Amino acid sequence: MKKKIIIVGCGPGAEEYITPAARAAAARADVLIVSRRLKEFFPEVAAERIDSGVDIEGTLNEIASRRDTGRQVIILATGDPGIASLAQPVIRRFGRENCEVIPGISSIQVAFARLGLDWQDARIISAHGSDPEVSAADLRAAEKIAILGGREGSLRWAAGLIPELGKGRRVFLCEDLTLPDEKFREVHADELIRIPVSSRAIILIIQGELLS
Ligand SMILES: C[S@@+](CC[C@H](N)C(=O)[O-])C[C@H]1O[C@@H](n2cnc3c(N)ncnc32)[C@H](O)[C@@H]1O
Repeated sequence: MKKKIIIVGCGPGAEEYITPAARAAAARADVLIVSRRLKEFFPEVAAERIDSGVDIEGTLNEIASRRDTGRQVIILATGDPGIASLAQPVIRRFGRENCEVIPGISSIQVAFARLGLDWQDARIISAHGSDPEVSAADLRAAEKIAILGGREGSLRWAAGLIPELGKGRRVFLCEDLTLPDEKFREVHADELIRIPVSSRAIILIIQGELLS
């Protein structure tokens, strides 16, 4: 009997942001699908570990072969699986009815929490793997923009975007949130092209009046 694939949000990095529900799910794994960042998570779980890497199709095939033998496959996602994770490719391939998602605390939530700002109307853009195909015209009406961007290229992309959005934007660079090296600082848009950035980074672009 094939088991449902469980996709588990593991939070932004720190132990205390892993929910009890995530721990309970991980403990049931026969097979854990892990990204480079999540390799060290749940060392107490004696499951086979498969690196999800960049080859999504290859990872989906590995999942299928383990699931076909009746094993419980658990996929670990950073933050929440609803933002830029393997969840959607997995659900498309195996069907919604064969998957379960356990939410986690997203790095986006933490970034807005650091600013003390709500985020129900934020635009979330992923510049994580490559520059996004979204134009400044599309974003001009957004007063809160969060860019996932742990690459120098994504900072350069944001630096080009910000002047196109109109006046009065404030920019915050949020790196390694919840981890011991966490940095949260306000920057000028033109600084973004020369700041070395952590591979875990979010750029918040906020209309200044919202922060007064
Ligand atoms: C593949 S996306 C996954 C996002 C994740 N699903 C979430 O909800 O946080 C990876 C991106 O998340 C952001 N990220 C993840 N952990 C972070 C952290 N601790 N601090 C800052 N940004 C983080 C970075 O923008 C990174 O490029």
